Amino acid sequence: MGVIVKNNCIFILETKNTHYVLGVDKHGNNQHLHWGKKCSCDDYDIACKGDENSNHTFLDEIRQELTVFGQTMYRDCDIKAEFSDRCREINLEFKDFSSSEEQLSLTFRDKFYPLEITVNYQLFDDFDIIKRWTTIRNTGSTKIDFEKISSAQFSLPGVNPYTFMNTNGAWGGEFLETKTVLEGGYAIYESRKGASNHNNSPYFVAYNRADEKNGDVYFASLAYSGNFKVSCSRDLYGITRVVMGMNDFDFSHTVPGGKSFDTPPVYCGHTNGIGEMTRQMNSFCTKHLLPKQFHDKILPVLYNSWEATGFSVNAPQQIRLAEIAAQTGVELFVMDDGWFGQRKDDHAGLGDWYVNTEKFPNGLDELIERVNELGMDFGIWVEPEMVNADSDLFRSHPDWTYHYPHRKACELRNQLVLNLTRSDVQNYIFTTLDQLLSQHNIKYIKWDMNRPFSETGAENLENPQMYSYLHTMAVYNIVDRLKSKHPEVAIESCASGGGRCDLGALSHFDQAWTSDNTDGIDRITIQRGYSLLRPAKTMRAWVTDIEGINKPCSLDFRFAVAMQGALGLGGNLAQYSTEDLELCKKNIYLYKKIRNLVQFGDLYRILDIENDEISFNQYVSSDKKESVGFLIANATRFYKKRIPLTFDGLDENKRYRLTIQKKTYEKSGAYLMHVGIPIHIRGVDYNEIILINTCE
Ligand code: DGJ
Repeated sequence: MGVIVKNNCIFILETKNTHYVLGVDKHGNNQHLHWGKKCSCDDYDIACKGDENSNHTFLDEIRQELTVFGQTMYRDCDIKAEFSDRCREINLEFKDFSSSEEQLSLTFRDKFYPLEITVNYQLFDDFDIIKRWTTIRNTGSTKIDFEKISSAQFSLPGVNPYTFMNTNGAWGGEFLETKTVLEGGYAIYESRKGASNHNNSPYFVAYNRADEKNGDVYFASLAYSGNFKVSCSRDLYGITRVVMGMNDFDFSHTVPGGKSFDTPPVYCGHTNGIGEMTRQMNSFCTKHLLPKQFHDKILPVLYNSWEATGFSVNAPQQIRLAEIAAQTGVELFVMDDGWFGQRKDDHAGLGDWYVNTEKFPNGLDELIERVNELGMDFGIWVEPEMVNADSDLFRSHPDWTYHYPHRKACELRNQLVLNLTRSDVQNYIFTTLDQLLSQHNIKYIKWDMNRPFSETGAENLENPQMYSYLHTMAVYNIVDRLKSKHPEVAIESCASGGGRCDLGALSHFDQAWTSDNTDGIDRITIQRGYSLLRPAKTMRAWVTDIEGINKPCSLDFRFAVAMQGALGLGGNLAQYSTEDLELCKKNIYLYKKIRNLVQFGDLYRILDIENDEISFNQYVSSDKKESVGFLIANATRFYKKRIPLTFDGLDENKRYRLTIQKKTYEKSGAYLMHVGIPIHIRGVDYNEIILINTCE
């Protein structure tokens, strides 16, 4: 593993199982040479052809790592600039490279203007994953304006059309998988809403012929929570390329003389099969990307009050819920929206992060102390980036929101977005949250964000089109500062459900709220989409009272779905029967026994409810001695679900014991994976959690 440099012009990034190869030709053009299975390093070569004719230009048709706008290059570029004399083209030559065992940087410079661009690569032991980012450097003394600054470009091998997977969702239906065969033209996945959104994911997953188990899969995920763009294209010659990074929609950035800019990073990889992609990214994120305080800690079972009480929270009612939650085995009690300012509904209060004394006449500590006495930690909801017009904060600082002087701002959910590019706004948010955490024994923050941005005027900025990036960095920075001052506090990213769950958010927040849709059936599909390229450990999943409209599912069913992530409860426990509370207790007890496997194990997706009418996911320990499978079905048809249930990820030579449909089996891993156990599933509401352990 490591960086291998051949003849100072071919660069081979060797990961555990793959080679990623790039080079610089004799004219100083960067070229992408290979991505995929390893070949002999001696064989890699770089050619430099000329233009074929006036309509077939070399620059336009080669595979590249970095493409700039200029000369005879017309396809999607990574970087577009305007110099102080209004020249709008970049023309690069190779400057130099630096390399170490795990890192490579190639620097190109403009042939005339004082601009340098460096493409950077970092390798990680044991993973086929490479981190990529780009640095632009203004080495002169006058500013350079940029219209586009992408993080990375990829050229996919071969000339066959690729299938691109992404998610196409919305609030309440996040992470719904899509597959698009790109035969020609462009496919774009993006956000223009100010933050990464419920609609598309900032990644690409591409393959010619692949399934869960086999086939070459190429992917890259952007670690950035602002406006993003993943632009995939295929040209007449069959070359498929992807350019990804900050969206160039409503974007511009000025780099002053002597300054540089690093793009948000992209994590890319090549695996055999889609399942292996998920497993590598899952363990990669857990090891290298999630914030260090909690990345290797088991997540507690939480209770959240939102669906039970809405905005109408008060001390006796929250204490009552906490007392019941504690009996079921909950470890963290989170009070949601409604506890602060004049917050009676969503018309008022956002921005006023002091306790509402009508609802909590004895302050917050009465509740927190009771929660702690019950053996649970306490968590609290905030929405720091927002303000209601009806709030003390807005009355004192009407200029603190994004706005244009002569435009009426849209008040989605009756709220406005605070201009976090201002340092006074950042300080206010940090200070109020810091005080909240310093004055009370709070161990968990649910950081919400409930609307997209609009009227994004920011008079404080020379270049307001950079607001999305600067706002995003301010959020990351406040979260990091809070964590370094309060290292015992975990922070959840929520944005009306799963509106901000990209790898950028997950490099700063510890976990994410997946969706406001807690319908047991819908969640199966939402959670599958979430966990494709995001760690299951970060996926908060609650069992609530939504039984499913026209598709009822029992409490056990809802637990079997929610236990496949970081389990939480969100129902109105005060109305639960004794039997239901016993069911909660039983399921939470079981979850605590298997959560290590779910949160840190390898996920194998075996049956998909959308295509197979059954969902069967298995989580396997790294030593392959233990596994848990979640077998779930609702409304199977035609009596047809009489199938051999096969397993995955086991050791062929080990013997395992498992009980399924009340019958116990002892079989080899080989038998379980290649022959399977006969099962019969009929009717609605089928759910079974299967524990699989080695016999010895
Ligand atoms: C949206 C979140 O997704 C919900 O869980 C809840 O916290 C509400 N906001 C509160 O306003």
